[in-house]
Amino acid sequence: MFRTAFFIVSICCCSFYWCHGCLEEERTLLLQIKDSISYPGGSSLDEYWVGKNCCQWYRVDCNPSSSRVISIKLGSIREERLGLWYPNTSLFAAFKELEKLYLWGNHIGGWVMPQAFSEMQSLRELHLSSNNLSVSIDSLRCICELTTLRVLNLDMNRLNDHTIPKCLGNLSLLEELSLSGNELKGNLPGLCELRNIRELNLDFNNLDGRAVPPCLSNLSKLETLSLSGNDLGSYSSALTGICELTALRGLYLSENRLDDRGIPKCMGNLSLLEELYLLGNELKSPFSSLTGFCELRNLQNLNVANNSYVGSIPQCFGNMNSLRELHISYNQFTGANPSSIFQNLTNLMIISASDNQFNDSISFSTFANLSKLVHIDLSDNVRLEVEMEHPHWVPTFQLQSLFLSNCILNRRGGSGIPTFISTQQSLETLDLSHSFLKGTIPSWLLNNLTVSSLILGGNSLKGTFPQSTRRNNSMLNEFDVSDNFIYGELPSNIDTLFPNLIVFNMSKNKLQGTIPASISKLQTLRMLDLAENNLFGEMPHGLTRNNTSLEYLRLSNNKLQGNILSKFSNMTELVVLLLDSNGFTGTIASNILSSPSLKILDLSKNHLSGFIPSWLPLLMNLAILHLDWNFFNGPIPSEFCQMQNLHILDLSNNKISGSIPSCLPNISSWMKEISIDVDVLSEQVYLRVLYSLNSSYYVDVFHTRVTTILTTKGMTLTYEGLPLSLMTIIDFSMNQLTGNIPSQMGHLKALHSLNLSNNILSGPIPESFQNLESIESLDLSHNKIVGTIPPQMVQLYKLSAFNVSSNNLSGAIPNEKQFLTFNESSYTANPHLCGPPLQRSCSCNNSSQPRDNKGEEEEEDDSTILDSPLFFYLWVAIAYILGFWGFIALFANKNWRWKFFSTVDRCFDCSYLNLHMFGLYLKNFCCN
Ligand SMILES: *[C@@H]1O[C@H](CO)[C@@H](O)[C@H](O)[C@H]1NC(C)=O
Ligand SMILES: *[C@@H]1O[C@H](CO)[C@@H](O)[C@H](O)[C@H]1NC(C)=O
Ligand SMILES: *[C@@H]1O[C@H](CO)[C@@H](O)[C@H](O)[C@H]1NC(C)=O
Ligand SMILES: *[C@@H]1O[C@H](CO)[C@@H](O)[C@H](O)[C@H]1NC(C)=O
Ligand SMILES: *[C@@H]1O[C@H](CO)[C@@H](O)[C@H](O)[C@H]1NC(C)=O
Ligand SMILES: *[C@@H]1O[C@H](CO)[C@@H](O)[C@H](O)[C@H]1NC(C)=O
Repeated sequence: MFRTAFFIVSICCCSFYWCHGCLEEERTLLLQIKDSISYPGGSSLDEYWVGKNCCQWYRVDCNPSSSRVISIKLGSIREERLGLWYPNTSLFAAFKELEKLYLWGNHIGGWVMPQAFSEMQSLRELHLSSNNLSVSIDSLRCICELTTLRVLNLDMNRLNDHTIPKCLGNLSLLEELSLSGNELKGNLPGLCELRNIRELNLDFNNLDGRAVPPCLSNLSKLETLSLSGNDLGSYSSALTGICELTALRGLYLSENRLDDRGIPKCMGNLSLLEELYLLGNELKSPFSSLTGFCELRNLQNLNVANNSYVGSIPQCFGNMNSLRELHISYNQFTGANPSSIFQNLTNLMIISASDNQFNDSISFSTFANLSKLVHIDLSDNVRLEVEMEHPHWVPTFQLQSLFLSNCILNRRGGSGIPTFISTQQSLETLDLSHSFLKGTIPSWLLNNLTVSSLILGGNSLKGTFPQSTRRNNSMLNEFDVSDNFIYGELPSNIDTLFPNLIVFNMSKNKLQGTIPASISKLQTLRMLDLAENNLFGEMPHGLTRNNTSLEYLRLSNNKLQGNILSKFSNMTELVVLLLDSNGFTGTIASNILSSPSLKILDLSKNHLSGFIPSWLPLLMNLAILHLDWNFFNGPIPSEFCQMQNLHILDLSNNKISGSIPSCLPNISSWMKEISIDVDVLSEQVYLRVLYSLNSSYYVDVFHTRVTTILTTKGMTLTYEGLPLSLMTIIDFSMNQLTGNIPSQMGHLKALHSLNLSNNILSGPIPESFQNLESIESLDLSHNKIVGTIPPQMVQLYKLSAFNVSSNNLSGAIPNEKQFLTFNESSYTANPHLCGPPLQRSCSCNNSSQPRDNKGEEEEEDDSTILDSPLFFYLWVAIAYILGFWGFIALFANKNWRWKFFSTVDRCFDCSYLNLHMFGLYLKNFCCN
């Protein structure tokens, strides 16, 4: 009875559940696959693949009528720590109706029973990107048995000409083949036999011209051909066959070192072409390689950014009626009135023409009828006058982003903020920085628009802080009015006016009053820069409170007072803290230890006192530490030797005593070159990467050359040297240090500048200084150093500033190589030094025993030495700050927001792959 009931229930279940669920045999196979993925000792699918109905399992799909599994999508499921995976091909072959198999990102090194591929007679799509299929030469041999395959993806497997299967031509039904990010070089076997191929992706290999064999023209169905990031430019005739691919709709040839000769004249044949990418090549002549494109009447997207085009945009561009996107940034286009060309291109959505040398004037009225425009970027055309008021016009478009920084705006119309912007209700990003704007910030900018990023820095805008009547300007994330003439106080209700600020930069204005306490209520604030104003009073305690998101805080050059940090301060996210040139008093509070990520700390030019805290090295990441121009006393704590990332240590102009710790050479960043990596706002850094993919621009200001200000006595020199991320400096000058210079300091091979001047140091110049191979500036003047200048120091070929004046040195001055470039002032007031450039000659008699009276004469020279221009005080103050905001201005504010969305749109279907491609792209780009 019980058994019968069970039987009936089973039948019901079979008809309503089991039989429409999944086949037991396939369920068993899936579980075997799962075990194999997890072997040995992983468990990634355990929580998902439970229950009887495997058709409902995560990443499994069945055919509803047969209940058989048709797709298994197991991308990135095998954990790396488990080592390479060798899946048993028979397990997959046993699924009779399997059409799609995704196994990307699984560390597959080959197959067990690869001959079973021949049994997979329904498979249409196979994704194997980001595996380790190059580890064995055979891992792909049997793949050619998959004769039903339509889509094959083998991206990023480090495949080379030997490990790529020779038999790919057998896959005669293949429609999409992707081999990007491998290490392929020469011609690809069987390529021309793929008669059904529609999409071929060979991006980011090492292919030279031979990879595009003449027979490629057989592929009459080819619609998309991607060859970006190769070396096609090495054969100027590489692309001649391309013109016969008349079905092509997308052609991607970026980053190939192609020059004008590499672009075939017959490109006009590709009459269906919609997208053409040639960014990052070496194209120069608009006439030879651009005019041909005018014949491409279906072209919607032309990208020739980052080439070397010189001259004007061909007039025939005005006939490309289908054009939606035109990317010509980063060239040297010049010429007259480019806007008239665009006048009739009513499909244009995007004009990206930044970083050129347009030098005439353009009037926005010519864009008036381009109703689909959403993005205009004309920034960094420093001689381009952009006229927006005259003649009168009414826009038919609604922009999302407008970038006009570093142009000359509205010069004839009074240089005011362009009024047409008030009609742009969809505007999200507006960058008008450094564009000679005058006048006040109109109230509609904050009240009538919904911009999220508003950048007006580096103009001559006047008036009080812009009034906002709108209570809750919640769209504004980024507000930069730095380097203008804004005066008055910051609004006391800034938190209700702009509740979602992330970046707030009002530096270099004429702000007065105190920092409003309400600024601490900006929960999302990550960067605050109020430097170079006339703010006074204490820092609001709440600003540094628990749960603050601040990563970058700069209040330098104001009149702030009181303690540096309140006793409640707890800035766990802080990376950069710049409070120099204020009136802060007291000691350095240990609350600063709550910022473990701190990399740059500048407290110089305040009235701080007490010992230099020996616990500072607990800030493991500290790379730049400025405590100069304060009243610190006591010794240099030997604990400082633990700061392995320290690049710049400036303790000058204090009352520090004791000797120089001999353990300083333990600091590795002074021994070998290591770059500082400061990524405040990591998301923006991420977006910058996205941005780089689209436009091929990856310029990181922290790694570009930064101007360092070297202040010598009475005169400021700018030093265009290393990027700040590589700069290394020790400055202990103007203290009361005693004892010998530790000879271990000679191990600081990566040190660029050492200043020990104006102390009471004695003993000799260590001979080991001959090993300071990176040293550019060495100042030991005004001490009590004795002995000779070690002659081996002539090897220091980078040394360009050297000062040992006012010591007790003796003997002959080395007189070769670098040392020939130093003049008398480097050596004066050393009674026993002799030889050129000093007047005193080193005769046998007086070289070791110089006359005393001569010495006294030199002594008298002392006061004039102080005025000599080569008396170095070296400090870095403004440089990295400029550099940092440069970074923000360039990337955060440039097209990235817009680019991000367009990139995401384009790539939503292959996000995993793209993430990898970004990495790869960056790698490629950076390594070149
Ligand atoms: C591979 O799977 C098949 C089918 O389950 C099985 O018969 C065979 O023993 C497996 N091979 C290995 C080497 O595990
Ligand atoms: C597998 O490939 C990844 C990425 O290319 C690589 O980092 C890893 O070392 C490879 N593993 C083996 C065992 O070759
Ligand atoms: C734009 O179109 C108008 C009317 O068709 C024509 O008169 C004018 O010359 C065109 N302008 C350009 C720059 O092609
Ligand atoms: C801004 O909005 C106010 C109120 O909605 C309106 O009266 C004013 O004309 C607008 N200003 C501009 C310049 O559009
Ligand atoms: C600082 O803030 C963090 C998290 O915001 C918290 O976990 C920690 O306890 C705080 N420390 C102090 C000393 O208040
Ligand atoms: C900061 O947070 C910690 C723990 O979260 C708490 O104990 C402490 O009281 C908070 N301090 C302030 C000033 O809110």
